[in-house]
Amino acid sequence: MKTINKILVCVTLALCFGAQVQAADGGNPKKGKHLYKKECKACHGVGDEGGEITPMSKTMSQWDRFFKRNKHKAKAEVFNALDEQELLDIQQFLYDHAADSDQPQTCG
Ligand code: HEC
Repeated sequence: MKTINKILVCVTLALCFGAQVQAADGGNPKKGKHLYKKECKACHGVGDEGGEITPMSKTMSQWDRFFKRNKHKAKAEVFNALDEQELLDIQQFLYDHAADSDQPQTCG
């Protein structure tokens, strides 16, 4: 029984650690917050064209998926205008304060 528990702990840790490494690795959330206000809020405040979007609008994995697969399909030019590092920073900020994160945040 003890050995099985140890194995389970190892597997769980590996999964958590693996997931974290994959998530927005290398982004700077402080810069991301600033960029988010500058680049995203214009269209994503209350009553704006894109509808209100905050870090809490999605879960951590939904944000990762959005930045990896969707890439702001609704208006692709928004993401095209930002470089890789800027997008990574924004992704990190949104991820860190996602609905299921440790510090969910409603305002940008
Ligand atoms: C020029 C205006 C504009 C800017 C700037 C903009 N967006 Fe958008 N965004 C939109 C529009 C329009 C939609 C589509 C809304 C809809 O489908 O109702 C959208 C959709 C989205 C969605 C999809 C919402 C969903 O339901 O999944 C997300 C997430 C999003 N934007 C995030 C961002 C982020 C992050 C940034 C900053 C990097 C950003 N947007 C900048 C206009 C903008």
